[in-house]
Amino acid sequence: MSISTIIAPSILAANFGELAAEIKQVEIAGADWIHLDVMDGKFVPNLSFGAPVIASLRKNSSSYFDAHLMVENPDKLITDMKQAGCDGITVHFESCTHLDRTISAINEHDCRAGVALNPHTSVENLTHILDKIGLILVMTVNPGFGGQQFIASIVNKIEQARGLIGDRPIQLQVDGGITEQTAPLAIAAGANNLVAGSAIFEADADQYASRIKAIRGK
Ligand code: DX5
Ligand code: ZN
Repeated sequence: MSISTIIAPSILAANFGELAAEIKQVEIAGADWIHLDVMDGKFVPNLSFGAPVIASLRKNSSSYFDAHLMVENPDKLITDMKQAGCDGITVHFESCTHLDRTISAINEHDCRAGVALNPHTSVENLTHILDKIGLILVMTVNPGFGGQQFIASIVNKIEQARGLIGDRPIQLQVDGGITEQTAPLAIAAGANNLVAGSAIFEADADQYASRIKAIRGK
């Protein structure tokens, strides 16, 4: 059975002065999800945007909103993210002291619960929470910035995550340095959900569709 690959453009690399228009353009170009990188300047050394911006974008889009929280205390943001219109909320394993509690809170808000793993964090950390999550995000760069280089040694971890997931209905997402060249490596290792920022938004809008198609690989 072939599983179609979900492409989730990260608006971190979009023109922040034209975010609503940028989202519309990638939707027309074939984006499946919209990836929203929320950064607090503490967990990662960069600030991006939060719930008020997401709520504004929600007014003009019916796409699946995929929030990736790179923040020190994600528990405090879950209700805000739900109210802003997020469909999925992914938290970092490294920022959650009580991961089971955080994941339960996301599920109680009827959002898909995801866990992101920094490059040095092993997938085995998720063994005991697999039945409560709907997404594993394997970071293929150190989080915080767009435009970084894909860390090739993580391909093996994507394979391990695929093995751990088994038959469970869990998205296996990768994020960081995904391009036309690196996407096939991630897909071959078992990823079915690719986040891409620069590789899409660095192009002119009339090239978004061809960029998405090239990353999807068909
Ligand atoms: C990195 C973010 C990514 C980032 C990806 O911390 O989580 O979503 O926007 O950007 P590219 O695709 O440019 O590596
Ligand atoms: Zn991200």
